Amino acid sequence: MRIAITGAAGQLGQALYRMLAAGHELVPLGHDNLELEQPGCVQTLVATGAQLVIHPAAYTNVDGCARDPDRAYRVNGLGTRYVALACQLLDAPLVYVSTNEVFDGAADSPYLEYDRAAPINPYGRSKWAGEQAVRELLHRFYIVRVAWLFGGARNFVRTVLRLAGERTQIAMVADEIGSPTYAPDAAAAIARLIETPYYGTYHLVNEGVCSRYDLASATLRLAGRTDVALQRMALADYQRASAVPPYTPLRNLAAADLGIRLRPWEEALAEYLREISSVH
Ligand SMILES: NC(=O)c1ccc[n+]([C@@H]2O[C@H](COP(=O)([O-])OP(=O)(O)OC[C@H]3O[C@@H](n4cnc5c(N)ncnc54)[C@H](OP(=O)(O)O)[C@@H]3O)[C@@H](O)[C@H]2O)c1
Repeated sequence: MRIAITGAAGQLGQALYRMLAAGHELVPLGHDNLELEQPGCVQTLVATGAQLVIHPAAYTNVDGCARDPDRAYRVNGLGTRYVALACQLLDAPLVYVSTNEVFDGAADSPYLEYDRAAPINPYGRSKWAGEQAVRELLHRFYIVRVAWLFGGARNFVRTVLRLAGERTQIAMVADEIGSPTYAPDAAAAIARLIETPYYGTYHLVNEGVCSRYDLASATLRLAGRTDVALQRMALADYQRASAVPPYTPLRNLAAADLGIRLRPWEEALAEYLREISSVH
């Protein structure tokens, strides 16, 4: 199948490229050849002749989105509308990658695909606008929500490793709870999903639930950096531009129904850290 991938240089974009390259004809679109802030991106996408479009490109800096909500909405909301319009013209299904941050974080058990979205920050609102554009304009789409993505060059796990190289003591938030997602695992699940005709909304996170503190702790342990003292801090004491939904673990109910399962996050993290250490 001829597949166009937006955000091809990003964390998930690269994992998707590696996962799909053997079996498909890929058209990777980086930020330099597809600008979501310009309506002309519709024509750029149509010119690829894609039979399927996978759209992980986004303005993913959550605090940046809080400082510039218009840009968040232009890239993640309107930009996704343009991608969906291109899919209409191509008569191609769309995979739109969305986020745990469409939820308000006030739940006390993991969110299912059909739980009510109620984003509390500009990033979440802009990604939800993207979801709505997809649902309004297309009837063949997979909306895939991932969370706490790691696997590329810039992510929370990398930040923990960098801080461990700079300090003897680190503090991490213990009351922000979520579901980490290893980008290659999400890419493998998407590769299976697009072979099915079961369009709709999916959660695709690694199995399990943890806090930022737990994820940092496992990272330091698996990287052999238990010499670094890790302390707990409260979300309320962590000053940042964006509001944070405190509890947003996801449960992959719809994918499990198709037999698509992701391994526990600790196993995926161990593999990622092995991969990083073999490169250095
Ligand atoms: N990262 C997470 O923890 C997380 C959690 C939940 C959901 N998600 C979702 O998962 C998807 C993939 O995330 P990721 O971590 O792989 O993102 P990423 O590494 O930040 O990659 C995003 C890509 O989109 C490109 N992009 C940004 N603005 C653009 C624009 N205006 N026009 C065209 N391209 C643009 C970026 O290019 P530049 O670098 O040149 O700007 C980058 O290559 C996103 O849709 C995100 O919302 C991510």
